Amino acid sequence: MASFTWTLFFVGLCLKVTQTEASSWTIKMPSSIKGLPGSCVVIPCSFSYPDPGKKVTEFNGIWIEMTDYEKFSYKGNAVSITMISELNTIGFSIKEEVTEGQSVSASCSVAHSCPTSPPVFTWSHSGEEHVQPQQLKDGQWSATSTLTFQPTSADHNKPVQCTVTYKGGQHHKTSRTLKVKHAPVNVKVEHKSEVKEGEAVQLRCSSDAYPPATSYQWHNETGSQLHRGHDYTLLKVSRHAGALYCTAINTIGSGKSNAVQLNVLYAPEIAEASSCTSEGDMVKCVCISDSKPPSMLYFVLPDRVLPSTKVEKHGSVTIGTLHAELGSSVALCCLANNTIGNANLTLSLPVNSKMLNLYIIIASVAES
Ligand SMILES: *[C@@H]1O[C@H](CO)[C@@H](O)[C@H](O)[C@H]1NC(C)=O
Ligand SMILES: *[C@@H]1O[C@H](CO)[C@@H](O)[C@H](O)[C@H]1NC(C)=O
Ligand SMILES: *[C@@H]1O[C@H](CO)[C@@H](O)[C@H](O)[C@H]1NC(C)=O
Repeated sequence: MASFTWTLFFVGLCLKVTQTEASSWTIKMPSSIKGLPGSCVVIPCSFSYPDPGKKVTEFNGIWIEMTDYEKFSYKGNAVSITMISELNTIGFSIKEEVTEGQSVSASCSVAHSCPTSPPVFTWSHSGEEHVQPQQLKDGQWSATSTLTFQPTSADHNKPVQCTVTYKGGQHHKTSRTLKVKHAPVNVKVEHKSEVKEGEAVQLRCSSDAYPPATSYQWHNETGSQLHRGHDYTLLKVSRHAGALYCTAINTIGSGKSNAVQLNVLYAPEIAEASSCTSEGDMVKCVCISDSKPPSMLYFVLPDRVLPSTKVEKHGSVTIGTLHAELGSSVALCCLANNTIGNANLTLSLPVNSKMLNLYIIIASVAES
């Protein structure tokens, strides 16, 4: 057996039994006692002796010596102290499965030899703790700590741990994983981050629930039910599709996701309002495109392609402006493209104002 350098404190606890029952030299104490190195042992003992005929007030000695009285040795009743090298196992009890919000008690108990400095319990979970000491036989004691708390969904599948620290610093711990029945939480709509308009998109309702969610409902923002089931397939998604959310339901309750708005991508559409106006010798063309993602806008002449001189973006609307001197051209084409597709629209150029004046002069001359 290993030799311990730990100190073992021991305390003798001898109680004199009442005189009336006492008639002979007898002693009651355990023949052996187990102690943890570094901790202490308390040896319980009770003895009796023949009636001395007078009052005995003082006891002392190694262990017992009574002043003014016949001496007696109880050395036949030696107690041996055994050092234990392994810590006593911790008894742990908790209901395996609990329900969120309902009070649950976990208890942790351990046998020890040191009632004057009993083991200290530390719990991994907060709650109301209550410690109950108890005397066993042969110098052994037990201490039980009971923790009462209200578990939440966050405690599901998490360990509840009890740590026992003995006088002298030795400690050990034990834990149990808690199953907490709870309504669905972290309810989310899973879907592709982007979807092209007109395509099908599959939505899935995910959640953390115990027991697992067994039914799902889908609603739009006004609360109308759209579908029931874990998956919801929108066959032809539209850019105008409103936000929607899902609700997951289990035997405990239900949980709702945040509203999700699909990111529906579509090719450019050029607004009929796009046009060109003249500004002196210059022409100003404005091309307005609606698309997602926003478009790039070009102005195409028969012989060249001009990029916009100014581009503004307002959500899905892109406004490209061209300021240029276009000479004798009569039409140009506005071209819009994005990752989904492209569109074009022919814009007529205003008749040059100097030329217009000339036509008026010619016309009036012709009339006269
Ligand atoms: C929700 O759905 C109902 C029924 O399909 C429909 O009448 C209503 O306009 C929708 N509301 C929104 C905001 O999309
Ligand atoms: C749009 O077209 C131009 C010219 O063909 C090309 O360089 C550009 O990458 C296109 N943009 C997108 C978003 O497809
Ligand atoms: C303009 O669009 C039409 C179809 O809408 C296409 O046939 C034509 O090639 C396009 N023009 C340019 C310059 O992209």
